[in-house]
Amino acid sequence: MVQGVYGHLPMEIQQRIAMRMDIPLSEISGVISFYSFFTTQPKGKYVINICLGTACYVRGGKNIVEKLEELLHIRVGETTEDKKFSINVMRCIGACGLAPAISINDQVYKQVNPDKLSLILATYE
Ligand code: FES
Repeated sequence: MVQGVYGHLPMEIQQRIAMRMDIPLSEISGVISFYSFFTTQPKGKYVINICLGTACYVRGGKNIVEKLEELLHIRVGETTEDKKFSINVMRCIGACGLAPAISINDQVYKQVNPDKLSLILATYE
């Protein structure tokens, strides 16, 4: 809920959560660093999650990662300078039958291939 409000969970916010919930800061930080859903860095307006679960990986998910890094000039875990796009990888977004899949915010794209990525990104211009 806090990440939904602030967009990310920097140390100052983790400290406030720990104090308000009367839980050690180490426990709060441990949960945040363990789950990939949480982030301590601000994300772009559009967060691209590339699935690297088994089905997507064997059907070319790694090529999707490489092409997006090339198109956006950032690496996985980074955000473009204009704060428009961030790239993350995740495990299975529930579209295994139509792998490889990515999501951009709440929109899921199935049977993605590197050639389709420019067209997909263009819809976010
Ligand atoms: S492995 Fe990619 S959607 Fe399930």
